[in-house]
Amino acid sequence: MVKVAILGYGTVGSGVLEVIKSNNAAIKNKTGEDVEVKYVLDLREFEGDPVQEILVHDVDTIINDPEVAIVCETMGGERPAYDFTKRALEKGKSVCTSNKELVEKHGAELIKLAKANNCSYLFEASVGGGIPVIRPLCTSLAQEEIESITGILNGTTNYILSKMENEGLAFEDVLKRAQEKGYAEKDPTADICGHDAGRKIAILTSLAYGKDVDFDDITTIGITDITDKDFAYAKKLGCTIKLFAKSVHKDGKYYALVAPFVVSSENPLYSVKNVFNAILVHGNMGGDTMYYGKGAGKLATASAVVADVLDCVKHLGKHVNIKWDEEKLAISPIDQAVRKFFVRVSGNDEAAVKAVFGDVEIMKDVVDGEMAFITNEMSEADYKEKAAKAGNVIGMIRVDA
Ligand code: HSE
Repeated sequence: MVKVAILGYGTVGSGVLEVIKSNNAAIKNKTGEDVEVKYVLDLREFEGDPVQEILVHDVDTIINDPEVAIVCETMGGERPAYDFTKRALEKGKSVCTSNKELVEKHGAELIKLAKANNCSYLFEASVGGGIPVIRPLCTSLAQEEIESITGILNGTTNYILSKMENEGLAFEDVLKRAQEKGYAEKDPTADICGHDAGRKIAILTSLAYGKDVDFDDITTIGITDITDKDFAYAKKLGCTIKLFAKSVHKDGKYYALVAPFVVSSENPLYSVKNVFNAILVHGNMGGDTMYYGKGAGKLATASAVVADVLDCVKHLGKHVNIKWDEEKLAISPIDQAVRKFFVRVSGNDEAAVKAVFGDVEIMKDVVDGEMAFITNEMSEADYKEKAAKAGNVIGMIRVDA
């Protein structure tokens, strides 16, 4: 019998209890062990919920109980999750978490602490919710030189962009509707400004290269400036617009960016709609692999936490190694990254556009009073210089090659 404690009885924590209870037979079949939740930690009471029988309010009960081998941290946020995680690891208890904020900020340090105490710090649920992507990146793709990771890592923004595209609605209207339906947070800043996706690509990039990527080194551009006019052009081009979280390793340099991209129908991520997430990983030997599923939600996220619990059960008293050193990975300035750009300009002076951007194909019949085109490949710095020279740019969206 392996005893587990859950920290936080919110959406994910209650899901973890449900998954362990409902799938007990499958878990025993796969690990050879009975797995039982001994405690759930939460400050609140849950009258009428059977969880009351195992509910505790003091984390010391869990930390000081030698029977508890595995702790599921589903509290979210940095504090007190950080302190509770450290204390559990110091006692040799493995910790499985869905807490992307904590993983992004302290992942390398907590893995090191787990190693020193012959236990594990696992976080499959922290990126892409129920999508298995961390384990494939750390194991099945460990032999690859990862050349790029491109993810739709935020369900809220993918839902908003999908609705804008399908129903021709404005960003603000879709956001309001998503908030009313509970798909978007009351304060949606972290989602719509790309910070949530930024934290997730920081984690994936750290794992791909084994060194620590700082979220602050990642340029994040959200979807707030995307309009129905952009979608009208995208449709004309046979493309869509997606918020991509992207990291690239090219010519010895590392780049990371979250931004809206114009995406062609040939891109495997084109068809990822609504709240679904997907991650496309390109390795130098095996080429593309893609991981798709629910990026959030109670049972999907909880299922990923429990996958980590099973890994810990199979490695009791041992460390499941994840290569993520505290040394920083140098992210190059975005100005040096090379790509194509979709550009909208006011007026109808084609010659002026071509004088600055070269021989580009100009679309004039989509929106009155303006033109649009896709540039040839150039660096972000070159694009900025040309846009300033043109002086009439209304909007720009990066194009995914
Ligand atoms: N707010 C996140 C999203 C939840 O919309 O994808 C999962 O991290």
